[in-house]
Amino acid sequence: MEQNNYDFGLIGLGVMGRNFILNVADNGFSAFGHDLDDEKVNALIQEGGDENKVTASRDVETFVNALSKPRKIMLLVPAGKIVDSVIEGLIPLLDKDDIIIDGGNSFFTDTDRREAYLANKGIHFFGAGVSGGAKGARKGPSIMPGGSKEAYSYVQPIFEAVSAKFKGEPCVAYLGPKSAGNYVKMVHNGIEYGLMQLTSEIYDLLKKAGGLSNDELHQTYAEWNEGRLQSFLVEITSQIFKQEDEFGDGRLVDQILDKAKQKGTGKWTSQNAMDLGIPIPSIDIAVSMRELSALKDERIMADDIYGRPEPEPLEKGDLVRMAEEALYFSFIMSYAQGLHQLADASKEYGYELNITTIARIWRAGCIIRAALLDDISKAFEANNALSNLLLAPAFVEKVNATVASARELVAYGAKNGVPLPGLSNSLTYFDAYTSGRLPLNLIQAQRDHFGSHTYERLDRDGIFHTEWED
Ligand code: 6PG
Repeated sequence: MEQNNYDFGLIGLGVMGRNFILNVADNGFSAFGHDLDDEKVNALIQEGGDENKVTASRDVETFVNALSKPRKIMLLVPAGKIVDSVIEGLIPLLDKDDIIIDGGNSFFTDTDRREAYLANKGIHFFGAGVSGGAKGARKGPSIMPGGSKEAYSYVQPIFEAVSAKFKGEPCVAYLGPKSAGNYVKMVHNGIEYGLMQLTSEIYDLLKKAGGLSNDELHQTYAEWNEGRLQSFLVEITSQIFKQEDEFGDGRLVDQILDKAKQKGTGKWTSQNAMDLGIPIPSIDIAVSMRELSALKDERIMADDIYGRPEPEPLEKGDLVRMAEEALYFSFIMSYAQGLHQLADASKEYGYELNITTIARIWRAGCIIRAALLDDISKAFEANNALSNLLLAPAFVEKVNATVASARELVAYGAKNGVPLPGLSNSLTYFDAYTSGRLPLNLIQAQRDHFGSHTYERLDRDGIFHTEWED
């Protein structure tokens, strides 16, 4: 392979970077990697073989000089300060019109700042969320790029080739200007948090109320994955129950500490939804549950103090049917909330997002891929101005057919001390969103009573204040 001629450069040869660059090379593009870690560089050189379609260097100058212009350099490094320092190292070596793509989970305002900073130097910068974990990066991720459209046109053929395909359609599309790509990936992760929380509480319920064994749980999730719940997360959940524990007799899942970690994208989704004024309680509670899970020692103490009722056993067949319906219902609520946030953020930040396109590129490759996303993309295709999925005619029947089981199980959980926070928040969201009248008139009256904050009326226009009698 001649120098100055590599189609694509990638910085950060960790698990994601290494898999992504191999995927690029598999698709016929020559690719050059860079990392400061010798071992990672050497491993990739070995993998490149004699043909040299993919190679790497520890030296950043060698790396930059090896790329054809405009250079297309993707960063797959941890979000935060590292991204800024890699950019600083590149700037003196780059030429006008070169392109830097941030493929990590960067916070969207960081992407806006970096784009403006580099635009001043004539360098294009855009954020492209990449979802699908290590396997996805190698075999086909879902890619969510945003930023300069012109710059994207140079990367488009590579991204389309390496991305996952849904019935032949690439799971990548230009999403919008500025940090649209990172923003969409952030909300993708918020939805991911919601779905994971729901999947795990339904597992708890099946165990506590139905006494399902790990084999039965494996079977149940596997069967669900053949139906309308078909999704990556349900599929891997079914596999997890099968995994033997290498250190003991039972299954690995039973020995894993119940403290879930997080890197921040779920929390950012919730924080930003609060800033926008968009309710996403299924996602919020999923973040809170990761926080609550971290309080393991306190939970053990409190468990000893309070105890709980012994859950009343439910007939397995009925329970599994209700659990499937409730999970489907609550999955819909997580997607509805995340997409609602995207629609609103699009207006607020000028992203010009097309929700149909987003749902389409999530149908394969990413962590939240699911059969439901095909239905969702069709619902938005029928009306792209839809503010909330719950208003789509095609979803009314799906929700009406499953809400009764959600009610039944939330009531069971409350009565029997089985925590179902994701499911109950999803149900409450549905009940509140579909209530033409909520009791918030009373809150307005209270605000006006103690603070003269004023209120509006149902029967006439204007702003009112009352001198409330004591
Ligand atoms: C993906 C994932 C990925 C994320 C992990 C871990 O789409 O491939 O969203 O980007 O980093 O899921 O996230 P947490 O550590 O916050 O759970």
